[in-house]
Amino acid sequence: MKNRILSHLPSDHPWRDSILCFESIDSTNTRAKLLAASGAPEGTVLIADSQTAGRGRLGRSFQSPPRSGIYMSVILRPNCPPAELMHLTCAAAVAACDAVETAIGFRPGIKWINDLVADKKKLAGILTELSIDPKSGLVDYAVVGIGINCSQQPKDFPLEIRDIACSAAMVTGSPIDRSRLAAAMICSLEKMSRELLTKKIDIIERYRSNCVTIGAEVVVLRGEAQRCGKALDVDENGALTVAFNDGLTETVNSGEVSVRGLCGYT
Ligand code: BTN
Repeated sequence: MKNRILSHLPSDHPWRDSILCFESIDSTNTRAKLLAASGAPEGTVLIADSQTAGRGRLGRSFQSPPRSGIYMSVILRPNCPPAELMHLTCAAAVAACDAVETAIGFRPGIKWINDLVADKKKLAGILTELSIDPKSGLVDYAVVGIGINCSQQPKDFPLEIRDIACSAAMVTGSPIDRSRLAAAMICSLEKMSRELLTKKIDIIERYRSNCVTIGAEVVVLRGEAQRCGKALDVDENGALTVAFNDGLTETVNSGEVSVRGLCGYT
């Protein structure tokens, strides 16, 4: 896998020498956090062929069967206050859309805040995790983890997600070159890491133009509570502005809520 990925990367790519490939791992995010805590540098990339404990947002799991997807995490060290990284998940989503478009030839949509979608189904998910240095109050490291379904057919997904999940092969009807997509992801994430703090407005503008949630009727789920409304916009911090049916307009943060479409997953 590693040699195939390297063959698709420019020979002078700055992250070339810090790519770690695993046949099986518990979670690339969990391992990346351990490596980051022991000093691994910015641009350390972990890619696994399968995960036994892939994690998603809000404590969910992420199905990561062998040779079916791309499961990768990258360590970033932006050395800034955490408040300046509120848009990190949005930036990673835009980077992932760019990589899918470059390597596979279609551009997914983004379901707020961290899912890539195609044909109204989930194609990929993003999990970003931060660690703050207690002395300086600055970000010690950020881990950006991305899982992309590549070659599954509907029967390969567990029943409980079969109606809401898709893969790149289902979208294109052709086999997917996972090494090429992994290399495109590495290139996109490296570009994102350079532009993260200087091109925030551009990044959010690109996020908005890809986001299928804006303009949709949504159900906002906070624990057991559900509220219906219309998603209006995503602000510069990646929060979603919703005009609720009770007449209130509020901005919801991704930390606590998830969003469903009124007519299904998106
Ligand atoms: C979600 O769907 O809520 C996010 C899913 C993120 C999955 C990726 S796969 C690589 C990395 N390692 C993990 O354990 N999770 C992320």
